[in-house]
Amino acid sequence: MKTLNRANGLLALLLCGLCTMAEGSNEIYAARCASCHADEPTRSGKDSGPTLEAMANMGRAQIRFALTRGKMQIHARDLSEQDLNHLIAFLAPSARDEWSAEAYLCANRAIDRRALDEPTISAWGLDARNTRYQPNSELRSDNVQDLELAWALGLPETAEVRSQVVVAGNTVFASSVGGHLFALDRTRGCIKWHRHPAQVIRTSLTLARVDDRPALVFGGALKESTPMRLSLVDFGQAVFAVAADTGETLWAQDVALFRGTILTGGIVQHGARLLVPLSAMGVGFGGDPNFECCKSHGAVRALDANTGRILWTAHMTAEAKPTYKNQLGVQQWGPSGASVWTTPTIDAKRNLAYVGTGQNSSSPASAMSDAIVAIDIDSGAVRWVYQGTAGDAFNSACLFGGPNCPKENGPDLDFGASAVLARTSNGKDILLAGQKSGVVHALNPETGDVRWRTRVSPGSALGGVHWGMAVSGRTVIVPINDPVPGPGVTRKPGVYALDIDTGRTLWAYDAVPVCDSGFSRGAPWPDCPYTFSAAPSTSNDLAFVGSLSGVAYAFDVRTGKVVWQFDTAATFDSVNGIPATGGSIDAPGMVAAGDMLFVGSGYAMFGENPGNALLAFRLKR
Ligand code: HEC
Repeated sequence: MKTLNRANGLLALLLCGLCTMAEGSNEIYAARCASCHADEPTRSGKDSGPTLEAMANMGRAQIRFALTRGKMQIHARDLSEQDLNHLIAFLAPSARDEWSAEAYLCANRAIDRRALDEPTISAWGLDARNTRYQPNSELRSDNVQDLELAWALGLPETAEVRSQVVVAGNTVFASSVGGHLFALDRTRGCIKWHRHPAQVIRTSLTLARVDDRPALVFGGALKESTPMRLSLVDFGQAVFAVAADTGETLWAQDVALFRGTILTGGIVQHGARLLVPLSAMGVGFGGDPNFECCKSHGAVRALDANTGRILWTAHMTAEAKPTYKNQLGVQQWGPSGASVWTTPTIDAKRNLAYVGTGQNSSSPASAMSDAIVAIDIDSGAVRWVYQGTAGDAFNSACLFGGPNCPKENGPDLDFGASAVLARTSNGKDILLAGQKSGVVHALNPETGDVRWRTRVSPGSALGGVHWGMAVSGRTVIVPINDPVPGPGVTRKPGVYALDIDTGRTLWAYDAVPVCDSGFSRGAPWPDCPYTFSAAPSTSNDLAFVGSLSGVAYAFDVRTGKVVWQFDTAATFDSVNGIPATGGSIDAPGMVAAGDMLFVGSGYAMFGENPGNALLAFRLKR
């Protein structure tokens, strides 16, 4: 397969820059958005969102959603419809024609029903314990060099890849942030079915059983046209169940607790229940000085898998009460925050689900923020709490000294990585939790007591450990992001292997800057984004870790040696007529299945390199 090289990527970027200039600048953009969204050198580097290039790739519908119902509504609050249209047309200059799957359908669209009952990859954690170890992989250190690109898919209406694929027999299920859902032929990438069930799909896909049918469940936003009452809040955050064989939507359940409930972590099934982690956008809304910050908080909700009915809710803070007025006289509320954006870890033996929480988004800081929380799966009762960092309250106002910044003012050290229920060498369960602080905590799953604690790096608000860790035998693989240099600290971006019994470091790989890419640019990254934020995965003697530079690496788990690498920050011929462009590898990273490796490339939310590529590699025969 032909790939464009970096020089061409740079050219494309320059050309795109010119066409934006030809459109002229937009006053609303300059006044309301540029401080956080422009490309270098105008960016403040403090609160960077996606770049102009990234926004152009999201397409108009997604930008409209962000401005009217989504994360950016505070910045577009009082715009007239005309100004809004103008702004959106400026941000996404080419209104792409409606894409249709018709021309890219497989000749044989059969989906093997039996394979759906025994999927190779069914959820984010690869198993209920969130080990991210793939037992059904043929890839090893002595054949991984024989991987070649089998196909590339361009995901529609997105500048980032948030979802991990599901693999069952000869079918791969994939989704785009723009709300598109695909069943693909595993080896060729042609389309078995395509649907557009949601306005936005934010979580990974999970293959569950719904009413005794294999179904994909995921979290996202309802379309305005969905024939049910939109949420009590503007986001319309919902869980969807879609039949895996036909693509038909079986049910959609609004699970929002607050204005600003948002779904990020993967959903897991245990018996007849689905466990849904709920995050909260107070952290973003807090930047608005007139916003009464903050009433929303993180939670876990259990749903009846067959109907979507909500069975219980475990709240991560008490209900917010009025606290004080900010200097503009705007009422503040607390406690709030403690978002849950990890995929729950299931401990079937103890009937517990473990989740991680983020910081509080207003004062007072509370006891279940930046914590690992053990929840009874039947009742939702909290069994124990282990707090990694106490006294952490932060929202985006703190980035510019805004009036809603709580007195704690950070340090913003969530548990964003799912906890891993691993086993020590003598067969005992041990719960491993990596934090944005750069510390890996090993806990007794019965009580939450500490077994060991290892500081791997100084950490930062974007990790330390950001999206995940993976286990292989007695080793836990710990990617470290550390993108921002703190005063007087030495960053330690890289990949680390720790001994599960002791927390001792077995090997370390220092991240190497890969800065010559035409796609690389942008604050807050000190030089270019090249560190490790994505969740890793393991299989046989390999660990797969993708970097923000876009390089996909396979490490030998025993030695830390790089045994395979591939630069995904390029443009690929795609199998579905939508240009497939790689960028930063973040969030779900890479997963192996059988003789294949799947890599999602592109992530733009904090100024990394955008992209929309789903790449499928296969061992040469
Ligand atoms: C104070 C800084 C700031 C300002 C001002 C701002 N943004 Fe953002 N924007 C961000 C950040 C940070 C993110 C990423 C947030 C996240 O993922 O949590 C973002 C995300 C976005 C997204 C992607 C949303 C999604 O859900 O995927 C769009 C589109 C966007 N901004 C457009 C705009 C537009 C248009 C304006 C002006 C009307 C604007 N923003 C003003 C900081 C800002």
